[in-house]
Amino acid sequence: MKNSHPELELHPLEEHHISLIDCWLRKEHAKQWFQDPEEWINEIIKRDSEFSFLKHFIVYSDNKPIGFCQFYLCADADEEEFRMFPKEGTYSIDYLIGEEDYLGKGFGKEMILKLCSIVFNKDDSKMIVVKPDNDNFLSRTVLTSAGFSFDKAHNVYLLLKNAHFKNINQS
Ligand SMILES: CC(C)(COP(=O)(O)OP(=O)(O)OC[C@H]1O[C@@H](n2cnc3c(N)ncnc32)[C@H](O)[C@@H]1OP(=O)(O)O)[C@@H](O)C(=O)NCCC(=O)NCCS
Repeated sequence: MKNSHPELELHPLEEHHISLIDCWLRKEHAKQWFQDPEEWINEIIKRDSEFSFLKHFIVYSDNKPIGFCQFYLCADADEEEFRMFPKEGTYSIDYLIGEEDYLGKGFGKEMILKLCSIVFNKDDSKMIVVKPDNDNFLSRTVLTSAGFSFDKAHNVYLLLKNAHFKNINQS
């Protein structure tokens, strides 16, 4: 697996990033998949209280912020679509390349690989599950590209810890 943007860095979100994320969520390529930007921002604002189980990151390429991503333990969010998976060790992720000039150049894949490594470096993590919209072709493609398998029975994309580290060690 090709590591196309080794310089990409994920930094924990800080207060001054919030307006940038708000702007990205409203962009043409993003807004159909993030239909309620106010709610996404609300979760970020309450990241030290009600939504402290969400771990947000800003993605930098050569010191320029280009996107954002987050992970969480599925059991903490208790979303119906993931209830069939084990409570222990099952995480999910969300992701967005906000800067249009950086789309389609391998940054999304590299961001997801790096986010998955952060999750899988947690001792309790076992798998990551993601359920993109059925018609979000690019999100489905980037997950496959980052090593996820499609679980047809549950209509989710799934990645196991061992498979991830095997993939990235082959790069
Ligand atoms: C989904 C998203 C993160 C993908 O990021 P990206 O940087 O554009 O994608 P990449 O350049 O890393 O490409 C990943 C794969 O998709 C393919 N791809 C990218 N753009 C494509 C396009 N326009 N048409 C066809 N394939 C495309 C690439 O070829 C690559 O596949 P490969 O590794 O087999 O060659 C980005 O499109 C995005 O932020 N979309 C809006 C937010 C969103 O939908 N988030 C997910 C909500 S669940």
